[in-house]
Amino acid sequence: MNEMIRPRRLRGNERLRRMVRETRVSIDSLVWPLFLREGKNIREEIPSLPGQIRYSPDQAAEAAERALRSGVRALLLFGIPNEKDERGSQAYAKNGVVQQGIRALKERYPELFLITDVCMCEYTSHGHCGILNGRRVDNDKTLPYLAATALSHATAGADMVAPSDMMDGRVAAIRSVLDENGYTDTPILSYAVKYSSAFYGPFRDAAGSAPSFGNRKSYQMDFHNSREAIKEALLDVEEGADLLMVKPAMSYLDVISRVKAETNLPLAAYSVSGEYAMLKAAGAQGLLDEYAAMCESAAGIYRAGADVLITYYARELAEAIKKGDLG
Ligand code: PBG
Repeated sequence: MNEMIRPRRLRGNERLRRMVRETRVSIDSLVWPLFLREGKNIREEIPSLPGQIRYSPDQAAEAAERALRSGVRALLLFGIPNEKDERGSQAYAKNGVVQQGIRALKERYPELFLITDVCMCEYTSHGHCGILNGRRVDNDKTLPYLAATALSHATAGADMVAPSDMMDGRVAAIRSVLDENGYTDTPILSYAVKYSSAFYGPFRDAAGSAPSFGNRKSYQMDFHNSREAIKEALLDVEEGADLLMVKPAMSYLDVISRVKAETNLPLAAYSVSGEYAMLKAAGAQGLLDEYAAMCESAAGIYRAGADVLITYYARELAEAIKKGDLG
């Protein structure tokens, strides 16, 4: 051993450890997903996501207050419509649930930054992320529907749109429709690298968006691949994406780090419903310390290279940042 070099010197006390942390995390980079359910006076606990609540648009102010109280100012909105059909019409309806939610929140809380998930799966009767041709999702037929959805979100007042469908070419399609309609300054956060994942299970319960037949493997990515992640990311850069996303996060830290190294856009990571539910369940059973595990896994995602973290723990992480337990 070289006795002059002792890494433990820098670990001797809390102040020093905090001084030399390599990864810094800011509350400004946290995004909290929010489920909006069509109707009135709805506030219901989501069984598959303990601690998360579905709100009707008229109740969404409560969610805004909870977010702002913790310091979180960015929300990612998902909609749960009452009526579904083959073409997902409620996704781009002027008075759709997300559109109503945006208007309700923007009016009262202009300081919020509202990002909308742009996809068809919560709105189609078959639960797939696009328009079907037989049993196959028709890529090119779906693009105008996604573009119409993004435009209706922007028209309602969304600050940023986030397509999560994994159709080829959708970033370009959305960009041109937004631009043609004067929304040249509305950024696109592309779910560029989205894997077909078992970790979306609790979300599909929460949003009622599980496919009624088959799975999403013909459009979402195969989890064995990481070079393909670079291909997807670079395509979206070319199509005009403003931010990129890797999703899920915890099992894909290598992908986050590769995409970060090989692109120059801000990079978001989505720590998805299954990641949250796992920690919640293990914590509830006393198998681990949920708070500590939450901080550690968030730090890991930032350490891998994420600039923005979308997580159901956004508010709790904001509190942890304020306490100095993280970042
Ligand atoms: C919509 C969408 C999904 C998620 C985000 N947007 C579900 C899916 O692709 O099936 C998952 C989010 C989560 O699990 O927290 N396509």
